[in-house]
Amino acid sequence: MEIDNLNKTNFNKTIDNQEVSLFSLKNKNGFVCQITNYGARLVSFFVPVKDKAPIDVVLGYDSIDNYQKDDFYLGVIAGRYANRIANGKFSLEGKEYSLFVNNGPNSLHGGKKGFDKVVWKASPFFNEREEEALELSYLSMDGEEGFPGNLQVKVIYTLTNDNEIKIDYEAVTDAKTILNLTNHAYFNLNGAGEGAIKSHDLVLNADSFTPTDAGAIPTGKIQSVSNTPMDFRMAHKIGEHINEDYIELKQGIGYDHNWVLNKKNNELSWAATVYEASTGIELKAFTTEPGVQFYSGNYLNINNGKNSKSYPTRSGFCLEMQHFPDSPNHDNFPSTVLNPGEIYTQTTVYQFEVK
Ligand code: BGC
Repeated sequence: MEIDNLNKTNFNKTIDNQEVSLFSLKNKNGFVCQITNYGARLVSFFVPVKDKAPIDVVLGYDSIDNYQKDDFYLGVIAGRYANRIANGKFSLEGKEYSLFVNNGPNSLHGGKKGFDKVVWKASPFFNEREEEALELSYLSMDGEEGFPGNLQVKVIYTLTNDNEIKIDYEAVTDAKTILNLTNHAYFNLNGAGEGAIKSHDLVLNADSFTPTDAGAIPTGKIQSVSNTPMDFRMAHKIGEHINEDYIELKQGIGYDHNWVLNKKNNELSWAATVYEASTGIELKAFTTEPGVQFYSGNYLNINNGKNSKSYPTRSGFCLEMQHFPDSPNHDNFPSTVLNPGEIYTQTTVYQFEVK
């Protein structure tokens, strides 16, 4: 079955004197994952289902031109600091650093030209299990977007034969800096452009979350999810507490919060499960990170998605595995400092099954 339905020539472009293209990985079960090295973005993920065409569960665009205009961080690797830093300011060893402010008074997802808008070096390879993988690397120069240190980053996407998108991150710096990387894919288990995600069942392996101010900056408290709409320890529909006046949810216009994952150390462990009964597609997410920003696509407003599909509000959700927002300004949060000589690592896995 032909599932590779994007016109690859729309992805071939020279940006910043570097070649951009579209890479396809497939596994032995017929799953296909597409990635571009512009922003290290996940473009599509096709899940084979019984008696029907494979379902593409990742929101994306048909061309690099559209990716260059994207304001929604579709599929990106966000960095150097995924999520928010209050007022775009943080200090290291008594020195204050200022970042570009692009989200109200705050800095979001790396600033003006974050990792989502740069061209990564790409090399496809087979791993030791003969699975298809793509290595993406990027050297972020000292002072880029206001962050200190020359930072060498490597991200490997692997499509495993267990039907997983496995994302392995590594980074080193030559000066003390801060780092928080994540993948920002929007998923829809009905298929990209096939309605809202409110009917999906969600389970989060988290007893607590980090409440925020109106600008989505954590207050610093770690609050129990008990008796709040943030309690996804048992399966609930994503839309259960999202209503027209948002009175029940109280915070913001939908979910856009960091949950504190239940874990003892930084082992790779189960973080979330999302299931859509109408397609039978289940996504299980695992990570080494301490937190997950679960975002219910509140601000989505895209009318030029793949295959001319629209992606309106709540037509995709993100499970952004990461350190907590604004960690550099909260001593009680796990540290996001990276020192010379240390190696930043992260692994996140999105595993799919059709039930
Ligand atoms: C943020 C949202 C934002 C979205 C796209 C998420 O990580 O938490 O507030 O709208 O990214 O930028």
